[in-house]
Amino acid sequence: MGKDVIVACDFASKEQTLEFLSLFTDRKPFVKIGMELFYAEGPEIVREIKKRGHRIFLDLKLHDIPNTVKKSMAVLSRLDVDICNLHAAGTVRMMEAALEGLTREDGTRPLLIAVTQLTSTDQESMENDLLIHEPIDKVVMHYALNARNAGLDGVVCSPLEAKKVHETCGSDFLTVTPGVRFADGDIGDQKRVMTPAAAKEIGSDYIVVGRPITAADDPVAAYKRCCHEFIG
Ligand code: C5P
Repeated sequence: MGKDVIVACDFASKEQTLEFLSLFTDRKPFVKIGMELFYAEGPEIVREIKKRGHRIFLDLKLHDIPNTVKKSMAVLSRLDVDICNLHAAGTVRMMEAALEGLTREDGTRPLLIAVTQLTSTDQESMENDLLIHEPIDKVVMHYALNARNAGLDGVVCSPLEAKKVHETCGSDFLTVTPGVRFADGDIGDQKRVMTPAAAKEIGSDYIVVGRPITAADDPVAAYKRCCHEFIG
């Protein structure tokens, strides 16, 4: 899979999501389905979007004991999504179990990527709440290395971390990066943002873009602009 723009479909219902996706008659975007939509509509929404010809990143961030994650990943694998994810904090053993569960009988499987530290976690909360006293960027790179050593395909990270992740884990280790905004756009609640062109420059493999596309007056034009800037 090459570079691509993944559209975060952060809608609360199937109706809203399908209405939005039906705008795209030409090129069908790669779509991210998160917890809100999945918990509201269940696996059927995944099948429906897949049936319409979209590739899917199912962003459910699993984190549990290895056996539970393994069995849950086997269920997600049968949904035929393209990318799944989990929390690297669940340990290397959990990530290995997840890969086992995800791998189908014929040896194929969706890509599996890890969340390192959530961007909502900062140095202070990591120290005070999690009792982790190392610098946060060191923790992020350590978790990324754990993911690579467990056999995963990449990590979700800030575009600002993508270059270092590639240096640490190899250029073929995928970086999937949210926090993308157009140079002339509203940054909303994101704190550290980058344009699609800058994310391309820094080596992100996939950018995850929500509101700059979903809340645009012309979502199709915004999507095309994103693809143009990021893929060329
Ligand atoms: O609307 P916006 O472009 O900010 O959406 C970004 C998407 O990426 C949302 O679905 C958000 O939950 C997700 N995300 C993020 N930052 C992370 C991980 C995921 O913004 N660190």
